[in-house]
Amino acid sequence: RIAYVNGRYLTHANAAVHVEDRGYQFGDGVYEVCEISRGFIIDLTGHLDRLGRSLSELSIEWPIARSALTVVMREVIRRNGVVDGLVYLQVTRGVAGRDHFFPAPDTRPSLVVTAKKIDPSFYARRAETGLKIVTVPENRWDRVDIKSVGLLPNVLAKQQAKTSGAHDAWFVDRDGFVTESASANAWIVTKDGVLVTRPAQHGILRGITRTTLFKVAEKLGMKIEERAFTVEEAKAAREAFVSSATTTAMPVVAIDGQPVANGHPGSITLSLRQAFFDVAE
Ligand code: PDD
Repeated sequence: RIAYVNGRYLTHANAAVHVEDRGYQFGDGVYEVCEISRGFIIDLTGHLDRLGRSLSELSIEWPIARSALTVVMREVIRRNGVVDGLVYLQVTRGVAGRDHFFPAPDTRPSLVVTAKKIDPSFYARRAETGLKIVTVPENRWDRVDIKSVGLLPNVLAKQQAKTSGAHDAWFVDRDGFVTESASANAWIVTKDGVLVTRPAQHGILRGITRTTLFKVAEKLGMKIEERAFTVEEAKAAREAFVSSATTTAMPVVAIDGQPVANGHPGSITLSLRQAFFDVAE
């Protein structure tokens, strides 16, 4: 495998950043994950737009021009022979002696790009059985709209899910409303077949897959309500699912040990999943 690190293509085993990289020391950086399907980078424009927004919110410069970054992404994908899988990119504020203050303005942001093959049948099989979810109290900061590499609460929530025999965790805010999953957006389908997902203005990352699913739903003639829902509502829902670049729409079949509806993946979720690649760009 090959990884791109600050202008160079290195063998994956030897690809490294400096010990004083601010991403490493402070989590001072941002990232994106894009799905690659049949050789295409799915929703590339959306992901790069969001990267630009994350960078700008943190006053980090683009490490290279956006067009050059696209070239690098394609080159890493090509060099790794990835047809189906994902491409990961990470930008940090760069390398500087440890000091909380932003480093000197001439410090160059660090850029890492990796790509990995994933057998599409892996997620297809998972969609047949669906995900088990545990709920955990929301304990993240209030800028989760920035796709920051500071993912400790997400890591701990995911690990807690695993320890409990589940696949993923849903964060629940103080008022009992689900915000999102540790690495995806959360959705339910009401008894009337309406898709419900939390508004992206506060408390969640504005998922690129989420935005594409709005278009998919429209095409399929489904209704969407952007509003917060509670754990209780989710448990009693007709269906539940999560969305992310890696999973697209992935059924949720149990929440805190209680089955969602009959405990099987929902047909609406599966039809969204089915139609996704017809709409994604
Ligand atoms: N996670 N919410 C969180 C907290 C996420 O980490 C992600 C993506 C999403 C969905 O965003 P998108 O649809 O743009 O992938 C929502 C990526 C896949 C990850 O961390 O691996």
